[in-house]
Amino acid sequence: MWSRVFLLLWVVGYGVLVWCQLSTAAAQASSNNVSSTLFPPMGNSLQSTVKTSNAMHTYVCDNDESWILVRAAGELLDFDTEQVVGDYTTDFSSGYPVINFTLLNSAADAAESGSLTSSVSVSPIVTVMSNGTTESLSQATSHQNLGAASMVSYVVLLNPQGGQAPAASLCTDEFGTLQSISVKVPFTAVFEIYTQNVVPPPVPGSLNVPNARLIEGFFAQGSMSYQYNGSMWLEQSTSACLYNVVGGYKVGKFQNLQEPDGFGSRLNWHIFNPNGFSLTGQNFVKPVLLSTADVPWALFKITSSSGNTSLLGPYTFVQLVSSRGGNAPLLADSVDLPPGLVWTSPFSCIFWFYTNST
Ligand SMILES: *[C@@H]1O[C@H](CO)[C@@H](O)[C@H](O)[C@H]1NC(C)=O
Ligand SMILES: *[C@@H]1O[C@H](CO)[C@@H](O)[C@H](O)[C@H]1NC(C)=O
Ligand SMILES: *[C@@H]1O[C@H](CO)[C@@H](O)[C@H](O)[C@H]1NC(C)=O
Ligand SMILES: *[C@@H]1O[C@H](CO)[C@@H](O)[C@H](O)[C@H]1NC(C)=O
Ligand SMILES: *[C@@H]1O[C@H](CO)[C@@H](O)[C@H](O)[C@H]1NC(C)=O
Repeated sequence: MWSRVFLLLWVVGYGVLVWCQLSTAAAQASSNNVSSTLFPPMGNSLQSTVKTSNAMHTYVCDNDESWILVRAAGELLDFDTEQVVGDYTTDFSSGYPVINFTLLNSAADAAESGSLTSSVSVSPIVTVMSNGTTESLSQATSHQNLGAASMVSYVVLLNPQGGQAPAASLCTDEFGTLQSISVKVPFTAVFEIYTQNVVPPPVPGSLNVPNARLIEGFFAQGSMSYQYNGSMWLEQSTSACLYNVVGGYKVGKFQNLQEPDGFGSRLNWHIFNPNGFSLTGQNFVKPVLLSTADVPWALFKITSSSGNTSLLGPYTFVQLVSSRGGNAPLLADSVDLPPGLVWTSPFSCIFWFYTNST
């Protein structure tokens, strides 16, 4: 029990490092198990399926006479037409894989963005062993240049074959300076590339917004803390950064206010300048739990606001959908825990902002 708890706390602690001030969403680049499937959250759509071509895994010999994977790279072909659509390289220098997909822009995108390619970097958030290698769900951590990769949010790696290190016996002193030995091993896989939708996914009936017009959506990534009091997990704090898209640029923050507004609301969305504004709200209906690992989807009524809301607002409702992670551990797992233990869980979701329909 405890070893599992420590493992989870370690994983969670790793996620918490990536807070608002730090820019990457590599937050969950570890084998955390907040959602056990290789599907991105609802609200993202499959944009294209590609396969590797001429891909290689490069290993170097380390001092323990074992092989270390230092690079994975190859071309990308459209899965059906087999036309080259770009390439990818994986960098392991930060301690976890960062996969950079560089996609060729269409002529129209190239003219608009001024660049022949558009790229996105992603890092694994879920990994599953399959046939001796690893399948994964990766989340975008940064984008560069408008075009084919601008709205890429998640990438799923499927059907990996090959790429394993050769026998450890090949990595020994006899071949000279250990660090100078390297091998390249052929590798094939399929990547499913997902983009973030520009409208919310279908929601459970009670979360539909009454008389409203959709304005905009923001991806949120942050953490929720719970404290165990001996019989229950009590929510302690919530905070997240808001981004234009998964792995995009930071546009604001979401937090739980210490002091409620005049209507008893504590949930606060703050969008930075220019045109910054702040909304405070509370649950409008009972949130709906769609999976035990992920925070419930919810509909919040805005009770007070300030700043430049007149441009597109006034905002009336905010919907929380497409959640991943963020729930307290199940009570059944809590029996051995010391009261006072604080649990911090990374989470992400998409908030959709609405105004009145008139
Ligand atoms: C993740 O969760 C699934 C289902 O609960 C379980 O089968 C699997 O072993 C877990 N994986 C890890 C790495 O803990
Ligand atoms: C991906 O790699 C290319 C080529 O090295 C680089 O120009 C680009 O900035 C990288 N993109 C991201 C999103 O890191
Ligand atoms: C497992 O991998 C081997 C070699 O990489 C391949 O021949 C075999 O078809 C794979 N099996 C499955 C079930 O994917
Ligand atoms: C934990 O908090 C709940 C809700 O406030 C309370 O009912 C319960 O008695 C507390 N448990 C302990 C052991 O203090
Ligand atoms: C409203 O937006 C303008 C710029 O568009 C900015 O200078 C001003 O500080 C904003 N006002 C508030 C209250 O955020």
